[in-house]
This record gives sequence, C-alpha cells and structure tokens, in this order.
Amino acid sequence: DDHDHHDGNADHELRVSKIQDGTVIDHVRGGQALNVLAILGIDGGEGEEVSVGMNVPSDRLARKDIVKVEDRELSQDEVDVLSLIAPDASINIVRDYDVVEKHRVERPDVVEGVLSCPNADCITTDGEPVTSRFEVLQDGVRCSYCGTIVRAGIAELIDTN
Ligand code: CTP
Ligand code: ZN
Repeated sequence: DDHDHHDGNADHELRVSKIQDGTVIDHVRGGQALNVLAILGIDGGEGEEVSVGMNVPSDRLARKDIVKVEDRELSQDEVDVLSLIAPDASINIVRDYDVVEKHRVERPDVVEGVLSCPNADCITTDGEPVTSRFEVLQDGVRCSYCGTIVRAGIAELIDTN
C-alpha cells in the first residue's frame, strides 16, 4: 500500500487540511508564520483552533508559510501589521468551506497605535498619552516621533494592550 507515498501539488495543499469557517493567511514568507501568530495575539492559550504550515513548497514563493485560523476574521489593523512581515500574503476568508473573499495585503504608508517604539526615551513610551506612529519603509518602520528605525523584529513591537 503506497497510500502515503504519492506526490504532487494536490498533496502539498492537503498538508494542512481545509477549514470550515475562518481565515487562511497564505503566501506568508517562509519562516514568518510564528510572527503572524504573534501579530494575531494567538498563543494557543485561549483554545484557538489554528493550523500552521511552514516552508511548504509554493509556485509564487520558493517556500511559503501558511496560517489557518478557525472562526476568526481579521481587522484592518491586523492586516496592516501583517503586511510588514508578510508583504506577499493573501488573506482568504472562508465560510462553509468556500473562499468567499480573497485579497492581497497592502502595505500602508503609516501604522498608528499598533506598534510601540523600542526607544525608552521616546515621547510615545514615557507615559505621555501619545499614540504611536510609524512610517513604513521599504525594509522596516520608522518612529515618527524619535526617528528610531526598526528593520528586524517588528513583530516584537506589537502593542498587545
Ligand atoms: N483553503 C482552506 N480551507 C478552505 C478553502 C481554502 O484552507 N475551506 C485554503 C487553500 O488550501 C489555499 C487558500 O485557502 O491555501 C486559498 O484557497 P484557494 O483560493 O482555493 O486556492 P488557490 O486558488 O490556490 O489560491 P491562490 O490563487 O491565492 O494561490
Ligand atoms: Zn519613538
């Protein structure tokens, strides 16, 4: 019985099974799936039903990650932040097993109130009621208040409050 040995695109798709209702974040850059989960605030502790594929072969990217979240549709803020670490991602809304909406993420010019500045002396972090604001660069983000540029580790700046 060679049931487990056949190959082909269909099987790559089936590596992570289809979901009934929720969101599929597809074409995530290889290696970024755990950062996607961080952005969505998913740590498994709330019993969320989540499937993750990492470094799955893909036509569009050499290797992609894929994240499937049951019973959840994403907010625009979440999609904006996702675009910073997964600029090629597509967001697929699934209802009753069908993809009812599909859109590519778009990189916004600025993100407000979703990242916190790593500079302890920044006016946005020293207790003043100032909403954080970052300009989105080609390869990172720049604090509009203190000019700090962050290229790697953007997911760590996500304001979880
Ligand atoms: N998907 C899923 N559960 C469903 C429907 C779709 O997990 N009930 C997943 C598919 O496995 C795929 C993604 O959602 O990874 C998008 O589905 P679909 O649009 O059917 O696939 P493609 O046409 O291959 O998408 P694209 O053109 O964006 O690559
Ligand atoms: Zn700052």
